[in-house]
Amino acid sequence: MKKFITFSMILLLLAGVISGCVAQAAEEESAITMRLAHNQGETHPVHKSLVEFARLVEEKTDGSIKIKLYPNGQVGSEREAVELTQTGAIDIAKVSSSTLENFSKVYSLFSLPYLFDSQEHYYQAMNSDIAKEIYQTTSDIGFSGLTFYDSGTRNFYTDNVEITHPDDLRGLKIRVQPSPTSIKMVELMGGSPTPMPYGEVYTSLQQGVIDGTENNETALTDSNHGEVAKEYSYSEHAMVPDILIMNNSKWDQLSAKQKNAITEAAEESTAFHKEVWEQAVEDAIEGAKDKGVNFSTPDKQPFMDAVQPLHDEFAEKKETAKYYKEIRKLVEEE
Ligand code: GCU
Repeated sequence: MKKFITFSMILLLLAGVISGCVAQAAEEESAITMRLAHNQGETHPVHKSLVEFARLVEEKTDGSIKIKLYPNGQVGSEREAVELTQTGAIDIAKVSSSTLENFSKVYSLFSLPYLFDSQEHYYQAMNSDIAKEIYQTTSDIGFSGLTFYDSGTRNFYTDNVEITHPDDLRGLKIRVQPSPTSIKMVELMGGSPTPMPYGEVYTSLQQGVIDGTENNETALTDSNHGEVAKEYSYSEHAMVPDILIMNNSKWDQLSAKQKNAITEAAEESTAFHKEVWEQAVEDAIEGAKDKGVNFSTPDKQPFMDAVQPLHDEFAEKKETAKYYKEIRKLVEEE
């Protein structure tokens, strides 16, 4: 009898192990791999935050979702990355909110110079329901926003002209992101705006196609702009967030647990990014100084005065008025 019980127990155990293996194999078989594209290199902080996002998604879905990253603009410009996300050729993309201005007018708000008064104001707005509502404004054209990543403050830098005042931009060809608001900004400040995708900026600086551009400090090192541009001036004219967007049909195919995991992973990766970002900016400044870049801090008031007409326009325009007022109101409530 005892022998019989022992034999039955072994059989039960074996059955358990076998069914466990079958279940695991089934889960692995049905595991989804999603493609995530962005245009920065693998040393850039946003790449590290996206690696963390991918790790968190895999962990939180017990491996049922894996994310494969395509960095370095492998799928093309940011505009192309958005279009591919729209059609579902890729599932997720990290692009500048500036690029999204061409898909939903509301995003133009984030390119509005001096919209945010401080980093606190920026984080307050980006972590609020205002941003979440904006993420949904593209839901009828195939994709929605999941979260944002800090992309610092944007400042002018040129080959050798220190920008101390908007007058210094006169006659200079300044590359801007392909966004109507950024083009208008440089026009109002007196420069000649030259819109082009990020991937073309280094060569254009090198060949003198442009005299300068504007971006955060990591562009000087991670994209090597500091090899050519030697004058970086803290006009701090914009804080343009990066946005993580996802194809809607892909989202709809997921289980409630998987959707929840992606939402949580997105939020947690944004917090992770805040930490790596600050360090990355410090490192970029040091790295750029080693390449001979000079950093200067002009008086911001003349730059702000120059773009006041854009503020008046945004406060009136039907696409932006509501959100413009809500974001500005946060300052008064501080
Ligand atoms: C930032 C941003 C990129 C964007 C780039 C640009 O670096 O993070 O997503 O492409 O600006 O100026 O185009």
